[in-house]
Amino acid sequence: MATHAMRTAPVADAAQEFLGDVMAGLALRPRRIPSKYFYDALGSALFEQICATPEYYLTRCELELMQIHRSDIAARLGAHVQLVEFGSGAGIKTRLLLDALDHPVCYTPVEISESALASSCAALTRDFPDLEIHPCSADFTRLHRLPAASLRSPRRVVYFAGSTLGNFEDREAITLLANMREIAGPKGAVLVGVDLKKDPAIIEAAYNDAEGVTAAFTLNLLTRINRELGSDFDVSSFAHRARYNRILGRIETQIVSLRPQRVHLDRRSFDFCRDEAIEVEISCKYDHADVQRMAQSAALSVQAIWTDHNQWFALVLLTA
Ligand code: AVI
Repeated sequence: MATHAMRTAPVADAAQEFLGDVMAGLALRPRRIPSKYFYDALGSALFEQICATPEYYLTRCELELMQIHRSDIAARLGAHVQLVEFGSGAGIKTRLLLDALDHPVCYTPVEISESALASSCAALTRDFPDLEIHPCSADFTRLHRLPAASLRSPRRVVYFAGSTLGNFEDREAITLLANMREIAGPKGAVLVGVDLKKDPAIIEAAYNDAEGVTAAFTLNLLTRINRELGSDFDVSSFAHRARYNRILGRIETQIVSLRPQRVHLDRRSFDFCRDEAIEVEISCKYDHADVQRMAQSAALSVQAIWTDHNQWFALVLLTA
């Protein structure tokens, strides 16, 4: 086992970038704040709780399909691959996949949070003592290639689980897929999880769990902005709203002002009308035609698609 953290590019002043994004997003109409800011320590813990709610089927479906198809998936990926995961990984799905792979050369999680990277690598090292782990501390949305020192096999498989691709607009998702293609290289592959279109009632329930965990997750964004950027959002006078847009095939999550109010941030003030929304997340759902279209736009071709027994979630294998 070897773990050497690679830092690809200096992470820009994160607090300054956060402030800039929130200021710019609040000035837009409609107002918009990127969903990547959900994930402070509490946000990450709440997301874990969402994954365990009865309504959030995505995690269970993806796990089921990995349990059922991992041998087939591993056979299609071939021997001696370098598994490059976007996100800190080390979850059960990653372990199942690593376990099924034929002599993987190296595992490279790509994650911006160095603490998340360190703890997931430590846990994996305990369970896979013979596996070389070569973490890469970087923002995967800005990564076009791995540093030369991180290239361990020409057969690189970029794994992007959880339907996080769906949190990006089509154009951004295609760019991300094209970057994954570059990182995988001509002999590699891309393995991506996507949530499939289904009865909108099932999808809406997944983003409006009865216990209110998703609402707490969404509203924690305002708490984070207050704490880290010094604003004065009255969190109790905003509400979580997640609706399925049937035309665009996606959940649109908003934070809605429950009354007219003024919020201060960095010597500026922002006035909200009653029912005015801040758009905070999209979660796109796909069908097979969407997957084909996006793959083609990223110069990738679909080699295989595995699904759970309900056909609610899919894992897609793509090659250049
Ligand atoms: C991380 N991502 C795939 C989740 C999703 O389903 O869009 C984030 C999430 N937001 C609310 N619930 C879960």
